[in-house]
Amino acid sequence: MNQRKRTAVLISGRGSNMRALVERAQDPSYPAEIVLVLSNRADAEGLRFAAEKKIACAVTDHKIYAGREEFERSMQRLLELHRIELICLAGFMRILTPWFVSQWEGRLINIHPALLPSYRGLDTHARALADGVKIHGCTVHFVVPAMDEGPIIAQAAVAVLDSDTPDSLAARVLAEEHEIYPAALALVAGGRLRVKGSRVYSEGSSSLPPALRVPVC
Ligand code: GRF
Repeated sequence: MNQRKRTAVLISGRGSNMRALVERAQDPSYPAEIVLVLSNRADAEGLRFAAEKKIACAVTDHKIYAGREEFERSMQRLLELHRIELICLAGFMRILTPWFVSQWEGRLINIHPALLPSYRGLDTHARALADGVKIHGCTVHFVVPAMDEGPIIAQAAVAVLDSDTPDSLAARVLAEEHEIYPAALALVAGGRLRVKGSRVYSEGSSSLPPALRVPVC
């Protein structure tokens, strides 16, 4: 069996997606192992959970660096020190430079709380409600220099209800995020994906359930 891919999860806050990844990766047959949780904020709530799970935690505070690239070079040193092979962004609230993204091409993925390419950026749930859309969801994608762009690995959709508020919609989308992110990381870590242009193709079957979840195969 191939070695499990050493994976870092980058967070800035609550860390519920990180938690979903850590929990799924506890299965020894899962192709990735979460070996580092890195935050740009010392008060990120998710760090406590990671520490309890005895996962190495690190804080690189962006505010103490002169610029974005200095901050990223410091993260890069940590990632190299921990021999990281894959990175998952999970609520990491810093824009990454083309330099950093190019170091990790094809090995850096993100989860976004909307069905990309709709609703890039922040406040996705409130904006979806304001537009009156009937379907909303989340996306896992490879990271490219442009924010919230990059080849899509997996998406999940939820129906928008008449009674929805941004919070209730966010909660249903978040439950889907916790399903598709571990499934998408498994596909990446298992080396089962091929990217051609903006499309991602998967070899073999995916563990993503059908329903409204759209796997890459
Ligand atoms: C999630 O909604 C994720 O899609 C977005 O930021 C939020 C992070 O939540 N990128 P959590 O920290 O994983 O709980």
